[in-house]
Amino acid sequence: MLSEFAPAKLNLALHVRARRADGYHELETLFAFADIGDRIAMRQDQALSLKVTGGFADGLSGEGDNLILRSARLLGEMTGHDPAFAFTLEKSLPVASGIGGGSADAAATLRLLARAWDIAPDSAILRDCAARLGADVPACLSSRTAIGTGRGEALRPVPLGSLAGAPIILANPGVAVPTGPVFAGWDGQDRGALPTGDAAAVMAAGRNDLQVPAIAIAPVIAALIAAMEATAPRTARMSGSGATCFALYADASARNDALAELRRRFPGYWIEPAALV
Ligand code: C5P
Repeated sequence: MLSEFAPAKLNLALHVRARRADGYHELETLFAFADIGDRIAMRQDQALSLKVTGGFADGLSGEGDNLILRSARLLGEMTGHDPAFAFTLEKSLPVASGIGGGSADAAATLRLLARAWDIAPDSAILRDCAARLGADVPACLSSRTAIGTGRGEALRPVPLGSLAGAPIILANPGVAVPTGPVFAGWDGQDRGALPTGDAAAVMAAGRNDLQVPAIAIAPVIAALIAAMEATAPRTARMSGSGATCFALYADASARNDALAELRRRFPGYWIEPAALV
């Protein structure tokens, strides 16, 4: 039995620069990762299968759709291996929520298969397979802080620097926000490049250009960010195409006070403490 952690992906900033002819958008984003996520285990079996457990197991729309099975089939095809493995996914992250649940699961699946099939973790075939599975999967493959450009798949690692271990809160209002319609709702106005500097500077001076179109689809996001801002974080912002938002604090005590306040204010929401890694 092999197992891999699939850490939550955060976009500490996400600037949408242009629409592309292929239906995607040209973006510049600062990816970071948290010490909270899903867990995937895999053992050899007669055929490919998937069992989902955990708090958000019901949110997945059936096996056929699941990125774990798609990832196993695709890497199997690309490398000529038979992906006869039984996978177990412990789903702890909310689904369709901007923190990469599906992409992180896909990437963890590729890491598991790479271990089983003796494929180098940084090999071109693994990266190619990741890019075919989704724009965020290459970033999740290494799960290291990076600037992403293009669709998000062209990666340049950057040090997390002073943000390493930073205490954060992740909060999701329980509304699944589909990525495609949020990108489609972007108004087409280029608001400028990602700021330069270290990760902290990029986050501080950056934006998430998908926040406005996501709020148009799920207005509860605006109230959540306003409530986060009232707890005096260094930054409070939506991640990816939403609806999960993050708030980053100067220290754990400020984060813990904010956690209690946000949980009191939004009793039905998924609100979790974590740290950047
Ligand atoms: O690549 P992935 O399947 O994760 O993307 C989901 C959807 O998000 C795409 O079909 C596209 O509508 C949108 N998207 C985009 N530009 C990106 C990434 C995603 O328009 N850079």
